Order: sequence, then C-alpha cells, then structure tokens
Amino acid sequence: MDDCFYCRNVLLMLKEEIESAASSLKGQLSGQPRIGIVLGSGLGGLTEILENPQAIPTSTLPHYPPSTVEGHEGTFLLGQIAGVEVLLLKGRIHAYEGYDLSQVVLPIRLMALCGIETLILTNAAGGLNSAWSPGEIMLIEDHLNLHHASPLYGPNVEAWGPRFPDMTGVYDQDLRSAAEAVAKETNYVLRRGVYASCPGPQYETPAEIKMLRVLGADAVGMSTVPEAIVARHMGVRVLGFSLISNLAAGISPTPLNHEEVVQAGLDAGPRLISYLLDLLPKI
Ligand code: HPA
Repeated sequence: MDDCFYCRNVLLMLKEEIESAASSLKGQLSGQPRIGIVLGSGLGGLTEILENPQAIPTSTLPHYPPSTVEGHEGTFLLGQIAGVEVLLLKGRIHAYEGYDLSQVVLPIRLMALCGIETLILTNAAGGLNSAWSPGEIMLIEDHLNLHHASPLYGPNVEAWGPRFPDMTGVYDQDLRSAAEAVAKETNYVLRRGVYASCPGPQYETPAEIKMLRVLGADAVGMSTVPEAIVARHMGVRVLGFSLISNLAAGISPTPLNHEEVVQAGLDAGPRLISYLLDLLPKI
C-alpha cells in the first residue's frame, strides 16, 4: 500500500492507521451509536442536549490529525438525543488546514467503522439564491465536488466499498422525504438545493459565485462533500443540511466577514437544533 504514488507524495492515510484509530474509538465507546452527526458552525448547542454524554477527545486516537485551531480540539460525543443513540463530532477537519482529503474524512470512516447506519452532515454556507435569507436552512439534494481531488484517491479497500462507487443518490431519498415531512408537520421552512464544496479558505469572488450559479449550485461552503463521498462509499446513508449564514460574494451587499458568518450560524443554530430533535426519532 505505501508503495503507491499518493502514499509517497501526499500524506495519504493508510488502511492500517485508519483501522487502529477506529479500534481505539470503538474500544472507548460505552454504547452503539446508530446515527452520526457532524456539527457545523452554530450547531454546538446539540452537545448541550445530549443525554448521558461520553466525550472522547480526538487527541486520544492514534493517527488523528491534530487540530490547527487552538482551543478547538475535536471531540466525539456519544449519548442519546430524543431517545436515539448518536455519535456527535465537534470540530471537523477541513482541507484548507493543509490536510489531505484522506485525513479530512477520517472521522467519517471512524464513525462508519463503529457501526453508524446514518450520517447527518451540517454546515454553514453562503446562499446563491437572492430570494433566500441568512438564517434559513437548505436540505442538501446533491453536491458539486470542486476540490479537484477525491477522498477516495489511493488503493481501494474493497471491504469498505467499491473502487468506483455510484454517486447518483448521495443524499438518501428516504431520509430526505422524512426531513421534508417533518418540516411540513412542524411548519419549518426548509429550502432545498445543491451544495458546492470549494477548498477555501478564501471566500469566493463574485465571478466565482456567478460561475457556481451557472453550474447549478444553490449554496457554497468548504466542507461536507468529501465526507459525504466517503460515507456513501462505505454504504452509510447520508442526510445533509446547510445553514445559510450569509448571501454569497457579489450577492451580499457587503463584503464577507468570518465573524458575521459565525454569528449568523449561532443565531440560527437553535432553530435547526429544535428541528433535528423532531426529525431524529423519525429516521
Ligand atoms: N462561502 C464559502 N464558505 C462559506 C460561506 C461562503 O459564502 N459562508 C459560510 N461558509
């Protein structure tokens, strides 16, 4: 495995390293999670409503990429929400931190190897539709991978999934139908559309946003897509939500500002959290 081009030229994670991190996480978990949830900006509040929480800092896992943001170390949290056994990930890994996509998706592979059946990915994103407002939530129907790379580069592990996985239905239709039904029942406004993932860390230029609109994107961010690809590869059902934290560059009347993006996420987070509380028992 370590003789291949990518293994020698980039920090491609090896199967043995991933398996050793997975067995460490599995050995520490005091229960069996059914649903994994990656918390995007603004969704940290979900950790507060987790019952019987068990925190596992990612720094305890071998080969886990260290956090590049001081004070924001990654943590897995096991517990129950609305009676459902969930495994939360706080502090996802981004490609713009300088990590290879195989490192970016490590937490997803670990959750899959720990037996989750369903993965809920959440993120903060820029909205490309001028009729949308910051604070609204978009159900991800499909995605554009604009990383010019795949988290599946390198030797395929047949036991995890096929060499050429189908990406026709990355975001599970049954889960999306359940999400739409719960939104309808609870009068929750749910937009839907295509999420484009760019490497970042710079926000897009107005010209890039025009290009993304032509390509069919409704929201843009810097995460989620590599994670969704790997989950799909491993046969985990995926559901994704984008919290529209701002209108994208050139659509927004003002330049983008990271602090405002984070604040919009924090302001809208509680509504998404209460919606997820209604949704979890239904999936
Ligand atoms: N662009 C890219 N990523 C983002 C944005 C954006 O406008 N907002 C939040 N994350």
